[in-house]
Amino acid sequence: MRIIRSRTELATLVAQWRNAGETIGFVPTMGSLHNGHLTLVNALDGQATRRIVSIFVNPIQFDNAADFQLYPRGPEADAALLEGTGKVDVLYAPDGAEMYPEGFATRITVSGLDDMLCGADRPGHFDGVATVVTKLLLQTGADIAAFGEKDYQQLCLIRRLVQDLNLPVRIKPVPTVREADGLALSSRNRRLTPQQREQAPYLPAALRACIADIQAGKAVDTCLQSCRENLKSHGFNVHYLELRSGDTLLATETLTPDARLFVAASLGDIRLIDNMPAA
Ligand code: PAJ
Repeated sequence: MRIIRSRTELATLVAQWRNAGETIGFVPTMGSLHNGHLTLVNALDGQATRRIVSIFVNPIQFDNAADFQLYPRGPEADAALLEGTGKVDVLYAPDGAEMYPEGFATRITVSGLDDMLCGADRPGHFDGVATVVTKLLLQTGADIAAFGEKDYQQLCLIRRLVQDLNLPVRIKPVPTVREADGLALSSRNRRLTPQQREQAPYLPAALRACIADIQAGKAVDTCLQSCRENLKSHGFNVHYLELRSGDTLLATETLTPDARLFVAASLGDIRLIDNMPAA
């Protein structure tokens, strides 16, 4: 596995690959890698002849400097994990100046998908994601790129962006990888205190219970309200809990086949998100 930090070095290698008729699979990450990320790498088995994983903690998608600073980082462990898969040709790890040189002024906005759910209380977050993902897709020349359903809104937004800008890349969605107790794997889980880590699996459990209630025919509003209260009584600060279409992300009051339940809730200052199909 080659570690590349420079955009031009990556461009030279990608051009060589192209000339040799290789196809490129890509997994963008912010590092602090776990089994969820490795599942994205594995999801590209047989889909491309070369694989690039990027690690870049993208400053422009964080709401504030403190959150950016606190984001867990472990470059050596990350490189060892990727090397250990035996599947990654290049780890692309540019620094801030390489991605955003002085004078950088462009933002990509995916209107309509960016100001709901996680976008509502994180203004600018999805512009930051859309901008960096566009740059990374262009820099890597990816034919196929894998994204986790864990960040379902992000996945929808990237699909829209790729379609709207005619980017020549196929987006591969990958189901959420969970711990044995149901908690969705996330780099942020490492910041939970032992007590919060014990509370955290109540989040997916509450989602499953809420979905069972909705499927049993109870009114959606009532199910959502009692789930919110349940989560509160288990120590969560609920930012949103909503039933939405998994295609359009628009709110739905009935159990349509594409309905998904979306949640964001914090334990202390650790924000957790999750989502599940409801139908
Ligand atoms: P990051 O949080 O590092 O996630 C990188 C990719 O891993 C995303 O596609 C995310 O959905 C996926 N992922 C994370 N946890 C997962 C899990 N438990 N199961 C399945 N997939 C999981 O998402 C980002 O970074 C950034 O916003 C990025 C797209 C890299 C742009 O900066």
